[in-house]
Amino acid sequence: MCRVIITGASSGIGKATAETLVKNGDEVIGLCRSVEKLPDGVRGIRCNLADADSVKSAFDLIHLEIGEVDTLINNAGIAYLSRITDGNLADWDSMWNVNVRGLALCCQLGLGVLNKDRGQIINVSSMSGHRVPPTGGFYSPTKFAVRAITESLRAELRMDGKTIRVASVSPGFVDTPLLEDYFKGREEVLAATKQQIKMLTAQDIAESIVHVLNTPLHVEVGDVQLRSVDQKA
Ligand SMILES: NC(=O)c1ccc[n+]([C@@H]2O[C@H](COP(=O)([O-])OP(=O)(O)OC[C@H]3O[C@@H](n4cnc5c(N)ncnc54)[C@H](OP(=O)(O)O)[C@@H]3O)[C@@H](O)[C@H]2O)c1
Repeated sequence: MCRVIITGASSGIGKATAETLVKNGDEVIGLCRSVEKLPDGVRGIRCNLADADSVKSAFDLIHLEIGEVDTLINNAGIAYLSRITDGNLADWDSMWNVNVRGLALCCQLGLGVLNKDRGQIINVSSMSGHRVPPTGGFYSPTKFAVRAITESLRAELRMDGKTIRVASVSPGFVDTPLLEDYFKGREEVLAATKQQIKMLTAQDIAESIVHVLNTPLHVEVGDVQLRSVDQKA
């Protein structure tokens, strides 16, 4: 039995991962804003990743009421098509604050509750953190940052003589509500994309995350890249 914190467990990949972990008998703590949408069996803590005080309160509560955990899955994220040429600052700030600053803060505060020997952090990045698609806009840079945070964290932990493992999982298109935000105003493009590509499901990604979570303690997975066989880039 593992005790796992997962951000963004109220929808999509996070929800499928939380459901799978609960089914496997793990204890799951879900951090998100819509705690009422968390799957059965998940202990919810309301938390807005864009608000540092809210994140700090959530981890304080975990420290006080729950204690040590085995794994932190930083999954929560948002995606808008907001271009460098004409995107707006509000969208850039929202994506940066949740996808980058919020995730990094969870890593930092998570270290305070993770088991020193078995602890593991799994960050959900994206294939858009490996190559920039033409519509990557400001979203893609936030996912490059997730990969860089993962590498920085691993290096810092090793420099400090700590064995907490750090991994990332990088999906291509996954059929979740996030795509409706990303394709807002371009619904016909989303529909056509779904015709061309048999998209990955949230459950496909959940199974990879759970695989990483259950690797033996001496195995550190770096990054898992997952794409639909139909996805060209
Ligand atoms: N879907 C894809 O094609 C795809 C591809 C590559 C990578 N990813 C990545 O996969 C991760 C999960 O995405 P998804 O597709 O499963 O999206 P989703 O279905 O839209 O779920 C996003 C989750 O993030 C949480 N979240 C959003 N803003 C938050 C905030 N301010 N504070 C706390 N939680 C917040 C949401 O919870 P609340 O609204 O309840 O707060 C929700 O549970 C993201 O990091 C995304 O970038 C997705």
